[in-house]
Amino acid sequence: MISINFVVMIERNVNLKSFNTFGIAANASRFSRFSSVEELRSLLSEVGEDKLLILGGGSNVLFTEDFDGIVLRNEITGIEVIQESDTEILVKSGSGEVWHEFVMSCVDNDYGGIENLSLIPGSVGASPMQNIGAYGVEVKDVFESLEAFHIKTGEVHTFYNKSCEFGYRESVFKRKFKDQYIITSVTYRLTKQHEINVSYGAIESELVKMEIDNPTIKDISNAVIAIRSSKLPDPSKIGNAGSFFKNPVVDPELVEKIKESYENVPNYPAPDGKVKLAAGWLIDQAGWKGKTLGSYGVHKLQALVLVNYSDCTGANILDLSSDIIADIHEKFGITLEREVNII
Ligand code: FAD
Ligand code: EPU
Repeated sequence: MISINFVVMIERNVNLKSFNTFGIAANASRFSRFSSVEELRSLLSEVGEDKLLILGGGSNVLFTEDFDGIVLRNEITGIEVIQESDTEILVKSGSGEVWHEFVMSCVDNDYGGIENLSLIPGSVGASPMQNIGAYGVEVKDVFESLEAFHIKTGEVHTFYNKSCEFGYRESVFKRKFKDQYIITSVTYRLTKQHEINVSYGAIESELVKMEIDNPTIKDISNAVIAIRSSKLPDPSKIGNAGSFFKNPVVDPELVEKIKESYENVPNYPAPDGKVKLAAGWLIDQAGWKGKTLGSYGVHKLQALVLVNYSDCTGANILDLSSDIIADIHEKFGITLEREVNII
């Protein structure tokens, strides 16, 4: 095997403000980028015993202090069709591609299955990390496989759907293989004959508003973009990382108890007879929606989203999230779990 050594550029003391959508001004002691597996391999040989963080779009992280280690920004690009039949198509993408741009290129080529996941920020490589989901679809529904670089051995391993152990905002990469792999490519099984998914009520009402009876995947994508733009803050204007907490999955008895005081509590069936509640609704009912503490707070249109209006610290946001967790526990007997990765 021929081994190629790249000249690696490592910057020191880099402000990460523009590399995370919360806009938190934490410093990384070392910072670099990679755009191929070979470049990544060369970089890792320089890392030594340093703490390592792989960053995609930085849209699901909260820096609570300076990062005393090396941050590697993933910029592996390239999209290719690797297999095709009359009904399906396998599309492989470099993990550093921007997720929404990837979705748009699939929709424009009439490859279906990910249109409901339009406008989610971040990179392709992070999409399996927490099995991103929105508007009735999760990545696991279209996921074929991924290639991941094993940090300790330098081997590249392939993971298929089952071995990723996907769950609601969960995968094996957040659990037993946490910090062990760097995802370098992801392959999705997309459709040429589409099954439109309008199971999420808001999509149907948006299509009515748009006066569309027989939606194409482009229409679904447009509807999702319109819904998201109407209630989620644009990170280029207001710092945030989307939903800060997961929606809690609870026992049905607890839901019945909450219904005694709140007849219309939104609730959805979950696996194993459990029930999923809307954390945004709970936080809203507890009076936190729109609450502002100086330069940060709870978004005024979506209580599940914590926001940095200008120059707060990650510790400010973390403390706010702890106060919310304590309050929701006291009021509803539910312990909210953070969705965002705390660094
Ligand atoms: P980063 O924030 O860069 O990283 C997240 C984690 O994954 C980190 O631990 C990082 O180390 C790790 N990681 C990243 N790339 C790799 C890789 N290649 N290999 C190994 N580890 C890696 N999420 C949803 O599921 N549904 C939504 O509807 C949604 N809406 C959002 C709306 C807004 C406005 C925002 C700001 C966020 C939203 N999110 C949503 C969260 C976020 O967009 C996703 O979690 C996204 O997949 C994160 O991608 P990223 O590249 O920014 O990851
Ligand atoms: N609600 C309120 N007040 C609020 C927010 C929500 O009452 O301030 C109620 C809504 O009226 C609705 C219910 O809560 O009845 C659910 O709200 P919404 O449809 O906005 O979805 P969500 O549960 O808050 C989840 C995901 C989002 C995803 C949307 C659409 C989680 C943690 N969040 O939000 O994902 O885009 O559904 O599918 O599962 C993310 O992960 O970052 C994210 C944005």
